[in-house]
Amino acid sequence: MSVHSQAQRVTVPQLMSYKGTRKIAALTAYIAPIARLLDESVDMILVGDSTAMVGYDLPDTLSITTQTLAAHAAAVVRATQLACVIVDMPFGSYQQSPAQAFASAADMLAASGVAGVKLEGGQVMAETTRFLVDRGIPVLAHVGLMPQYVNTMGGFKAQGMSDAAAQRIREDAQAHAQAGAFGIVLEGISEPLARDITAGLDIPTIGIGASPACDGQILVTEDILGLSGDRIPKFARRFADAGQVIRDAAREYAQSVREETFPTLDHCFGVRRSN
Ligand code: KIV
Repeated sequence: MSVHSQAQRVTVPQLMSYKGTRKIAALTAYIAPIARLLDESVDMILVGDSTAMVGYDLPDTLSITTQTLAAHAAAVVRATQLACVIVDMPFGSYQQSPAQAFASAADMLAASGVAGVKLEGGQVMAETTRFLVDRGIPVLAHVGLMPQYVNTMGGFKAQGMSDAAAQRIREDAQAHAQAGAFGIVLEGISEPLARDITAGLDIPTIGIGASPACDGQILVTEDILGLSGDRIPKFARRFADAGQVIRDAAREYAQSVREETFPTLDHCFGVRRSN
């Protein structure tokens, strides 16, 4: 059964209205079959650039292109009817200038039908958030551990552990909120900091490795389904072992083919039966 009260897609203003009233449940999806399965349960689906690592086995998120991510986003939008679909702005498609960001985001929206974009960056990117929002493109900002900064961070490391670093992230979140972001993803930051930022903002925070006090939560779907190998990130929980289900099904299929129990004539066309 759907958790949505009426069969209409969740809008960005609706997500904003959930602050203080109900938690936002969000997951990533990159392809239609997974998006279709998530749609009835979550409020928001993010077509994340994490598809570079999860879907394409790349070492980081830096090389996914606008065209590739837009194609994934279009598939997710086509496969869903209820969840608000947001797409990541790929690395290099928005950092140069607000005008570049607008052109890239407009292309993504036109190509896919998503409701808005997510962009990573601290105060320096707040001007871009303002530029997009003022021109009709909802922005979900992403601060703290920002995977597109993997090279400047020296790896995927939790952020905001010193007082100075925490203050910087607090100001990053405030800057995007003031610039009109509809929400802020807080990734990989200290728990008290996430709690504090959430309490201080009028817009929802969506945590991943942040705090239960955030206004919502997002995880990479493959992590909760047991599809990302044996290592479960500290901030995730495996809610199903779909990996084992798929492994078992593939083994059974291969065995049936080798033992010649599949396919049978029931699976063929124009069969001539002798009796
Ligand atoms: O790319 C992504 O999937 C993300 C989420 C994990 C927040 O940015």
